[in-house]
Amino acid sequence: MSRREIIAGLDIGTSEVKVVIGEIDPDNERVNIIGYAQVASSGVDKSDIIDIDDVATSIREAAEYAERMAGVQVEGFYVGLPVQHVSIIHNSGAVAVSGKERIVLEEDVERVLHAAQVVAIPPEKKIIDIIPCQFKIDNKTGIQRPVGMAGVRLEVEAMLIALDRSVEQNISRCLEEAGYELFQFILNPLACANEVLKEAEKEVGVILLDIGAGTTELSYFNHGTLLETVSIPIGGNHITADLATVLKIPQRQAEELKFRFVDLANEEDDEVVDMELEVGDYGFDYNEPINRKLIKDIISFRLAEVFDMAIDEIVRIGFKEPPPAGIKVLGGVSSMPGFAEFASECLYANVRYAYDNTDDQSFIIAKGIINYVYHHNFNYVEYDSRDRQGKRAIGGIWRWFKDLFEME
Ligand SMILES: Nc1ncnc2c1ncn2[C@@H]1O[C@H](COP(=O)(O)OP(=O)(O)OP(=O)(O)O)[C@@H](O)[C@H]1O
Ligand SMILES: [Mg+2]
Repeated sequence: MSRREIIAGLDIGTSEVKVVIGEIDPDNERVNIIGYAQVASSGVDKSDIIDIDDVATSIREAAEYAERMAGVQVEGFYVGLPVQHVSIIHNSGAVAVSGKERIVLEEDVERVLHAAQVVAIPPEKKIIDIIPCQFKIDNKTGIQRPVGMAGVRLEVEAMLIALDRSVEQNISRCLEEAGYELFQFILNPLACANEVLKEAEKEVGVILLDIGAGTTELSYFNHGTLLETVSIPIGGNHITADLATVLKIPQRQAEELKFRFVDLANEEDDEVVDMELEVGDYGFDYNEPINRKLIKDIISFRLAEVFDMAIDEIVRIGFKEPPPAGIKVLGGVSSMPGFAEFASECLYANVRYAYDNTDDQSFIIAKGIINYVYHHNFNYVEYDSRDRQGKRAIGGIWRWFKDLFEME
């Protein structure tokens, strides 16, 4: 039986649970996607787990489907972590460069990152990741790869990701109930960035905007790394609810209208919508014929609110104007026709899609997770085909991260 090296990523979204299974191809140094699935999620509201059994069922369903496609059974998942569950703490640390030659070694980097994560946090939170923003060696700043450079004192400015222990427990229980292990969390924007941002974009400054069903995540990258990330509590579900409320139709039909009858870039279209509408939850139906312009106005109004909040965040981050590489959008809502054009007008920025075609966009986070795990040399699992007794293979500096964060 052949040994297979497998990494599985899980994105528990408000509207859908997505699973991607990848197999490491050592010859070509890449991960090949061998299975994927998305199922409607239940038990998630605004990216928050509100029913463990329901979420476990959705995870099991998506995972089993992807496993069948891949012909392997996975032992556990690397799981995308929504930004709203974490607190970001900026901290710094410093150490003396240890070797006689005064050349920075990997151990020095490990020690300085250890030093940077010494910070008082409330007992209900734990640090789950540390992202170096920049290193300094003596008086030189802006260093991204310090190993091999000469100096006496190594400093780091880092971003610590702190997670509520209760969130970790809940997600872990969902996986356990579904029959899987939770290997590690990967913050959603880190997974996305790995998939859709070019190094040059991250270098000069770029914003990622992921507009999902329950939340919108805004993340700012510069100097090659994630510097800020924030969750705005509005997404596509609010648009559906607005349509249902204003037009007094059931949510299911509002969702259909949203998918079928809107082009945000088309100013002229006031054609009457060709769809039989039912009496909604409130008992009355809408008396006027519904035209595309009305639908577009309702949707635009809510999107404009999201964009206003995004501008507030961009200003808070410290910009007077958008970053040089502009704003890249993803998330289900961004697949509305004309979305980027409309967003460009509202955000006064160069807005581009983070993907080439809307069919690919659903799996960006789940795919990004497995590529992130692979490229950062995390643990992954070796499998015999159709064998659930996978064996964790552990490598590199990430072994140390794992030890660090599993210390308690
Ligand atoms: N073509 C489309 N037109 C309009 N809306 C769409 C389209 N495709 C998806 N959506 C909306 O996008 C949302 C789902 O997006 P996505 O899959 O990114 O969300 P999620 O990851 O499940 O949620 P979250 O990230 O907020 O937890 C839903 O509100 C859905 O109605
Ligand atoms: Mg999402």
